[in-house]
Amino acid sequence: MRDKIVAGNWKMNLTKNEGLLLIEGVVNGVVNSDVKVILAPPFPFISDAVLGLSSSKIKVAAQNCHQEESGAFTGEVSAAMLRSFGAEYCIVGHSERREYLKEDDQLINRKIQRLISHGIIPIFCCGELLEERESDRQFEIVSDQIQSALQGFNKDELKNIIIAYEPVWAIGTGKTATPQQAQEMHAFIREKLSEVLSENAEEVSILYGGSVKPENARELFAQKDIDGGLIGGASLNAPDFLAIIQSF
Ligand code: PGA
Repeated sequence: MRDKIVAGNWKMNLTKNEGLLLIEGVVNGVVNSDVKVILAPPFPFISDAVLGLSSSKIKVAAQNCHQEESGAFTGEVSAAMLRSFGAEYCIVGHSERREYLKEDDQLINRKIQRLISHGIIPIFCCGELLEERESDRQFEIVSDQIQSALQGFNKDELKNIIIAYEPVWAIGTGKTATPQQAQEMHAFIREKLSEVLSENAEEVSILYGGSVKPENARELFAQKDIDGGLIGGASLNAPDFLAIIQSF
């Protein structure tokens, strides 16, 4: 049985009181759910989020980490720090970092290595741009991303990874992939993972991300290979986020 996961990616939103209120709203709303809930707030919230969520089963993810162990990297945050503050997951390869910070799959591969070495579970994002989908290259693009970012790892290292398929044209745009488009890609990703993981690929949770809302979550999550969602905008509002969790 694969884990059902709903992860909220706050991106660069909310100040202290707003963030603490959101954490409280989510904690109070999630009851007896068999869905694994993860919150990915910005770095300054990590410690408070870990504390605020300690009485619940909700886990904390970071939105990024640096690829090096430690050293003279002003402004950066290491995997060791994240682990020591209680983050158990970390998003890597998000399309916004690929686009604005020019992160490529080689760099993402190094971040994943670092995270795994500190026992942090990577939430690896992949997905094609609009023009890539329009020219029917989406499978080639996602295949290349997975191939490069996940190369060099063995079965044991990769079997706990979480994958988030996020078509870039659907992120924050209000456009969502149809459940059929998403399912088709998720099945493709699982097939691709089975090259390294063999039967363990069946155990990997593959999340869909890109304008997931309470109105479309149920149909997306009903697809065979969609094991949950990575939620941006709708995770900033506790009732919407909770409604998405309850869509399973
Ligand atoms: P969105 O963001 O739900 O606002 O489209 C998803 C993401 O980028 O993780």
